[in-house]
Amino acid sequence: MAAATTTPSGATIARAARLGGALRLPGDKSISHRALMLALLATGTSNVRGAGDGADVRSTAGVVEALGATVERLAGGAPEAGNVDYVVRSPGADDLRRPDRALDCGNSGTTMRLFAGILAGRPIRAILDGDASLRRRPMARVVEPLRAMGAHLEGMSGERPPLIVVGSERLRAISWSTPVPSAQVKSSILLAGLAAEGQTRVREAVATRDHTERMLRARGVAVRSAADVGGAGGAVVEIEGWQAIGVRDEQVPGDPSAAAFWLVAGGLHPDADITIGDVGVNPTRRAIIDVLGRMGASIEERGGDATGTPTDGVTGEVGEPVADLRVRSSDLRAIELEPAETAAAIDEIPVLCLAATQARGRTVIRGAGELRHKESDRIAGIVAGLGALGARIEAVGDDIVIEGPTALRGSVVDSLGDHRLALTFAIAGLVAEGATTILDADCVAISYPTFFADLERIQS
Ligand code: S3P
Repeated sequence: MAAATTTPSGATIARAARLGGALRLPGDKSISHRALMLALLATGTSNVRGAGDGADVRSTAGVVEALGATVERLAGGAPEAGNVDYVVRSPGADDLRRPDRALDCGNSGTTMRLFAGILAGRPIRAILDGDASLRRRPMARVVEPLRAMGAHLEGMSGERPPLIVVGSERLRAISWSTPVPSAQVKSSILLAGLAAEGQTRVREAVATRDHTERMLRARGVAVRSAADVGGAGGAVVEIEGWQAIGVRDEQVPGDPSAAAFWLVAGGLHPDADITIGDVGVNPTRRAIIDVLGRMGASIEERGGDATGTPTDGVTGEVGEPVADLRVRSSDLRAIELEPAETAAAIDEIPVLCLAATQARGRTVIRGAGELRHKESDRIAGIVAGLGALGARIEAVGDDIVIEGPTALRGSVVDSLGDHRLALTFAIAGLVAEGATTILDADCVAISYPTFFADLERIQS
């Protein structure tokens, strides 16, 4: 019997008898976006190997093309991973094409916020637009610093998209403290800082994913990072303006945020042994692996470090560490997460909530308010969806509190069109009694288009 029945209106998942085998995942979404964007800014030909082929990365590839690069797509890497090798030929940052229509960022906040930064310092007028979900998301967090640098940005209503960007060739460096922990905000400012006069500095209270910094360094751009001395877990990043980006090929590792779904599935299911190959384990992305480990999940990590973590000796790390992960059935216990750890695992919090429903004790995830501003209000969505499956879960202000373990029962749950909620509910379906139907399940293709094929593979 098929592990999942998918129709345009939803997917129905049956409880799995056993989960076993090996998987290759979509290329990391954050790195895929950045590799395409930096290929646009470098003059010449860049190869991006093993990029994820989710709709979000396709949106970025579309914008790169609209801004004047040619973008060629080839099948890339292990066929079951469904990844893409891109060849990007670009005239470079100083010769971007003025787009003749709105730049469609689809569902992707990363695409919109990072391109806002890229365009802020270019002599271009552009409109960044997206789908209904993206049009509801807050942009003041990038609009304000980019305006302070001298660019003109305007949201259609209350700083929401569509966003009009009129770039300035006389951008000024700024020193900016971000009130929200957001790699998108940091990256947007750094990318604008590249085209600004002087040294741009971003101070964040909680250090966020550092792919932009690593990837800029790998392309010859000097970027300094340091722990923020006054802050608990904060960081300061500095970039000197008017630096050119060199061409560079990128090998994109498997997405740790996609791996998280299988780490939880393997940990929860009573008969599971799953290996996931070549997963990115960058220190700023691996919190979910360590948190699940602390909860008692049996996760083995084997080197297999394809790209290594070389440093340039002056400014910090450049490469992306990669490992194979093996997860087996586990007996989980509850955990308490402080806001900095919640921020470090922000995309994995929905599936961590699912893990907590099967862990002994009371799990408290503190400071999860940013989840309300993702592709949906993920706090409301996860509380409603896991609640419908029988979990004891509630939101208390910005904290999420879960009592476990509770037996989950299949039911109808709404993904709200949010890929990470749909994926979490599908994993819940593998361990819930009876059938779990997820409404609007097609949205998994935003980050993980091969998910339902992997769901079959892991049960055969
Ligand atoms: C991303 C940063 C995170 C994350 C998103 C991807 C990135 O958003 O939720 O999925 O690639 O920089 P924020 O930095 O806004 O939290």
